[in-house]
Amino acid sequence: MELIYEKSKPGRRAATLPHYDLPSVEVPADLRRADPPRLPELSEPELVRHFTELSTRNFGIDTGFYPLGSCTMKHNPRVNERVVMLPGFKDLHPHQEEEGAQGALELMWRLQEILKEVAGLDACSLQPAAGSQGELTGLMLMRAYFEDIGQGEQRDTIITADTAHGTNPASVTMAGYKLEKVATDARGNLDVDDLRAKVNERTAGLMLTNPSTLGLFDENIEEIAQIFHGAGALMYYDGANLNAVCGISRPGDMGFDIVHFNLHKTFSQPHGGGGPGGGPIAVRERLEPFLPVPAIVREGDAFRFEYDRPKTIGKVRGYYGPFGVFVRSYAYIRAYGPALREMSEVAVLNANYLLARLKDAFDLPFDRLCMHEFVLSARGLKREHGISALDVAKRLMDYDFHPPTVYFPLIVPEALMIEPTETEAKETLDDFVEVMLEIVRDAGERPEVLKEAPHNRPVGRVDEVKAAKRSVVRFHFEDHPDLSEETGQARQLEAQKGA
Ligand SMILES: Cc1ncc(COP(=O)(O)O)c(C=O)c1O
Repeated sequence: MELIYEKSKPGRRAATLPHYDLPSVEVPADLRRADPPRLPELSEPELVRHFTELSTRNFGIDTGFYPLGSCTMKHNPRVNERVVMLPGFKDLHPHQEEEGAQGALELMWRLQEILKEVAGLDACSLQPAAGSQGELTGLMLMRAYFEDIGQGEQRDTIITADTAHGTNPASVTMAGYKLEKVATDARGNLDVDDLRAKVNERTAGLMLTNPSTLGLFDENIEEIAQIFHGAGALMYYDGANLNAVCGISRPGDMGFDIVHFNLHKTFSQPHGGGGPGGGPIAVRERLEPFLPVPAIVREGDAFRFEYDRPKTIGKVRGYYGPFGVFVRSYAYIRAYGPALREMSEVAVLNANYLLARLKDAFDLPFDRLCMHEFVLSARGLKREHGISALDVAKRLMDYDFHPPTVYFPLIVPEALMIEPTETEAKETLDDFVEVMLEIVRDAGERPEVLKEAPHNRPVGRVDEVKAAKRSVVRFHFEDHPDLSEETGQARQLEAQKGA
């Protein structure tokens, strides 16, 4: 497929600007750009075809099953898009004064109330833009809290699990804390003995996902909470896996003091490729004074922003948070209503169904009932046939399935982390199982087919490291002398015309 710059022909336009009968105004010389921008020039049909063709090369939850563990790629109900496009939401400017934005403020306030209930905690801020920013905000709250009680210097360490998502250690480091990792025991829980040995008066807190990235609910969570609280430390809940427990168990009841939600996972959102997301946090009462400002408060039937919070950590994001994400999540939650629990129950059921059908064909590092996701290992396939988790993942693409998460969590060699979500039909799960079993058969009978997969995608097997480390996302004019010349001449022409 040609790049848009390669399709470009000088002088072509996709838009016609209206002619107004108004006097033209000279742009002051110091504000005028010296050269016209180097933009591709195409007609409207060419432009539409270009992007439509590009869109068909992409894989999304609307094109197929997307069991990307830890990422909760569930169906995004279309009614959410309808609601978010209501003019009162879509056209609202963030500088609109409070009186004219009461509906939006009420929606945000109501979403906060629901999230508090789901978390089992006392206060909420919607501001953080993603789970990872929720983590950083939560750690900033911990720091502010300990400074306030005179233990800021003393408590300098955060404990995480060795199964933690990469954002956990990154947030800990960004927040200026030291990182201590705790091992996983033979049942896939946090190793309580290792934990006891590491928690002390220097510990500020724990950051934990529960269920973990292994898809396992920590059976010792109450004991763990006692250990941390007994040492005067706090508990942070990475809510990335909340899809497993909504309406069933609450992080606050497990002993967690701060929780982030990944709105874009649990409560649906067309996400992927880096956004859009929402990472609200909920906290216990004693941490409320430190939450970001402005807080959204209710007074009778009116809603307003409150800035006067002397102990606040300040703002963590522009304006008030990702509003479109709030509208979609609110619509999603209200559509479920009290049946939110069912959402999690079906997610867990679907995962256990897949696990039961696949566990004999792969290695299973922890043989337990799983929550909303599970981790298999392709270690046996590697040992016996030289087929890696990556080969399995690439081959799945030939069957129009998005690969599961691979090589994570790091403690499982050749990991395949599978999360079906609640929105998939049994037929889809069965099709996926059949393909996975066929891949296992092929590993023994014709491994070269797997080694060279994918075979029917626009792009074949790429050099993963190079693709990640040297991604080309910008058009380099200097690498295309012909085009540079052509566009260069056109630009000169435009400049002469005073464009
Ligand atoms: C377990 C876990 N924690 C944290 C995050 C970070 O969340 P976000 O991508 O919203 O920043 C993720 C994201 O995939 C995750 O899976």
